[in-house]
Amino acid sequence: MSRHVVVTGASSGIGAACARAFSAGGDRLSLGARRTERLPAVVDGAFCHQLDVTDQASVATFVESSIAANGPIDVLVNNAGLARGTEQIATGTGEAWREMIETNVLGLLEVTRRVLPHMVENGGGHVVVIGSIAGHKAYVGGGVYCGSKRALQPICEAIRMETLGKNVRVTSVDPGMVDTEFSVVRFRGDEEKAQKVYEGTRPLVADDVAECVLFAANRPAHVNLDNILVMPTDQANPYFVHRES
Ligand SMILES: NC(=O)c1ccc[n+]([C@@H]2O[C@H](COP(=O)([O-])OP(=O)(O)OC[C@H]3O[C@@H](n4cnc5c(N)ncnc54)[C@H](OP(=O)(O)O)[C@@H]3O)[C@@H](O)[C@H]2O)c1
Repeated sequence: MSRHVVVTGASSGIGAACARAFSAGGDRLSLGARRTERLPAVVDGAFCHQLDVTDQASVATFVESSIAANGPIDVLVNNAGLARGTEQIATGTGEAWREMIETNVLGLLEVTRRVLPHMVENGGGHVVVIGSIAGHKAYVGGGVYCGSKRALQPICEAIRMETLGKNVRVTSVDPGMVDTEFSVVRFRGDEEKAQKVYEGTRPLVADDVAECVLFAANRPAHVNLDNILVMPTDQANPYFVHRES
């Protein structure tokens, strides 16, 4: 049966790949991002709407209009997120930290708190959270990004407890290095610096992560995959990456 799947941050990378994967299986999509002009090209016929997860009014309008367009929400893919810079704690200015926490933590909470009561009212649903290996292992210059992803773990645990008996599944999909626009965003448009991240190694591609999300969403309703940690074969952790020289 066709599900209504909402994807945040669907204008690029993992979000766009998730949208394509669900659509290929016949699901109805509602897609949100700030760069709305990109959305119609992601999935033919999807409902597309402006979304800034850091803006409460924008989140409310996005969720309400998605429901109006596609009916009750069955799956929420909380994907919108970013890393900004590589500031260390002693020398950071705080600006990038606020942006990461406001987007990755508070933004995700804002979308989820709008969707969850609606799911419960409609007999259940599936909340997917795109975390990161960064939520499992910290690295120098990534303390706040890692913290923002680590924060998603207790949030997922709490949602599971708080919705117990309501047919709500909660899955976090935590990838290692994925070749998307992530590093270009982190380095504020510096393509050369971004490319260096993937130099000589074979990272995941967005479709690899989307397959994990789809796999979790396609389990029978009584099966909840709590967490999928998906790494490139060439990456053992944030520090150990095999590179061909
Ligand atoms: N690439 C990696 O190596 C990697 C590894 C582990 C986890 N992740 C996580 O995967 C998720 C997707 O990242 P990606 O790799 O696909 O990077 P990406 O290509 O840069 O995509 C990020 C998406 O998030 C959206 N976004 C950012 N801020 C937003 C906001 N305030 N409101 C709404 N949408 C917003 C962007 O859309 P707009 O700019 O158009 O709003 C874009 O669609 C993120 O949560 C990231 O932390 C990535």
